[in-house]
Amino acid sequence: MSRFAYVNGRYVRHADAVVHIEDRGFQLGDGVYEVWAVFGGKLADAEGHFARLERSLSELRIIEPMSRTALKAVIAEVVRRNHVREGLVYLQVTRGTARRDHVFPAPDTAPTLVLTAKSIDRSAAEAKAAKGIKVVTTPENRWGRCDIKTVGLLPNALAKQKAREAGAVEAWFVDELGFVTEGASSNAWIVDADGRLRTRDTNANILRGITRSSLFQVIAREGMTLDERPFTPAEAVAAREAFITGAGTLVLPVIAVDGKPVGDGKPGPVAARLRRLYIEQAVASAI
Ligand code: PDD
Repeated sequence: MSRFAYVNGRYVRHADAVVHIEDRGFQLGDGVYEVWAVFGGKLADAEGHFARLERSLSELRIIEPMSRTALKAVIAEVVRRNHVREGLVYLQVTRGTARRDHVFPAPDTAPTLVLTAKSIDRSAAEAKAAKGIKVVTTPENRWGRCDIKTVGLLPNALAKQKAREAGAVEAWFVDELGFVTEGASSNAWIVDADGRLRTRDTNANILRGITRSSLFQVIAREGMTLDERPFTPAEAVAAREAFITGAGTLVLPVIAVDGKPVGDGKPGPVAARLRRLYIEQAVASAI
């Protein structure tokens, strides 16, 4: 079945979808992105992702390519044309195309807007979640504004590749004080020895994950204890459980850190339960 992308006002065949060689996203990494999970053809945590997109754009002073309402209509059309029921929507906005120069182009330069959607196999994802994943650690080497969801993902790509080459799926960045910040494309969590859920606070240089904040609601509803406090890789190994969150992975158990088993080395009951409850909430609130 052919895939379609949206590029600057047009729905085009995915294979033919292109941007200019002097697009500032390509030349300078001067752009932002968002990823939504799709359940039953609808967007999960829609408002949170829109709000973060608008914030990322405003922090970088990139013009919003269209209103939120118009964007919702375009996204719905991209989802429809690609026949996505279960999957992901990817959106990218760059500062547009201009003769290469580090400084911003003329204020009337139109931003570039690209949207794609792809289907994912939920039963394969559930099978992966049932097995859990391994993570490796890597020194934090990103810029100081990881709260902005920019397309400048080279350190994240290198970290993910390091994980792949070590037989792991995700890499956790570790700051100079020895604490985990977050994953290359996810937020990092543990269930500590006292059964408290622990994840890094957002005063740290991390992305404010939308899945992370939606899970906060689930945790509050369940009466579980949440501790927004850093942890070290050694604490993760000594923890009962560990897991990651993100629009791509939802809630995914971590069974080893740098080759050392977490807890008994199997996915734990808390992560499994939170995954189920998160998905239930995401499905019920998808728009
Ligand atoms: N990544 N931290 C980083 C560095 C991320 O790239 C992501 C998401 C997250 C989790 O955020 P959210 O829950 O809002 O998806 C945390 C997306 C999925 C990606 O890069 O594909």
